[in-house]
Amino acid sequence: MPDDPKQGLFFPARQAAAAAPGAATSPSIEAAAAAETRARPGRLQLPRRMVLRWAGWGSVLLVVGGWLNGFLGFFYPHKTGAFGGTITAGTADELKVGDVKVVPDGKFYLSRVPEGFLALWWKCPHLGCTVPWKDNEEALPGDEGFAQKGEFHCPCHGSRYNRYGQIIFGPAPRPMDAFPVTIDGDKIKVDTGPQKAVTRDRSGPDSPQIARA
Ligand code: FES
Repeated sequence: MPDDPKQGLFFPARQAAAAAPGAATSPSIEAAAAAETRARPGRLQLPRRMVLRWAGWGSVLLVVGGWLNGFLGFFYPHKTGAFGGTITAGTADELKVGDVKVVPDGKFYLSRVPEGFLALWWKCPHLGCTVPWKDNEEALPGDEGFAQKGEFHCPCHGSRYNRYGQIIFGPAPRPMDAFPVTIDGDKIKVDTGPQKAVTRDRSGPDSPQIARA
């Protein structure tokens, strides 16, 4: 294989010779080109050797590119265990009915209602404030059958939500959004992220977002 790319590595030898600055065209090369043109008038001549070289180099590039892709992908950090990924919020026997657990990494509350588990995004559906859980305030309608204390109470404009995330008082236009919950063995897993949040018109015991215990 020639060392100089202009001498045939990437271009046909006669084109490379013609392209060389100040190079005189060899009579034998000119004769060969003329013979090729006469043999196949009107057709672009592409030497088979060049085609094979390009195919060879293309294959090498494909292999190196695939290897680099795998190598870099291995070291690229995948998002797990933080907001935007899947979070293990605890175990199924950790909470009793009526308990609410804050999960800061996922920006949600895990609410244990009689029917199962709900993951409520702490972002207020009104104007986006973080809604705190107030366990010393009176329980709101909807919770009275299984809890006496506790509610979600937004400090910005006073929206108040029960343990299902249902808006009971205040200006919020809908219940708190919910993240999908799955129970894997005894682990409760929550799929977080703004694009995963489910917007509801109402939330209660029949909500499909409740992972049944
Ligand atoms: S942002 Fe929560 S009530 Fe307005």
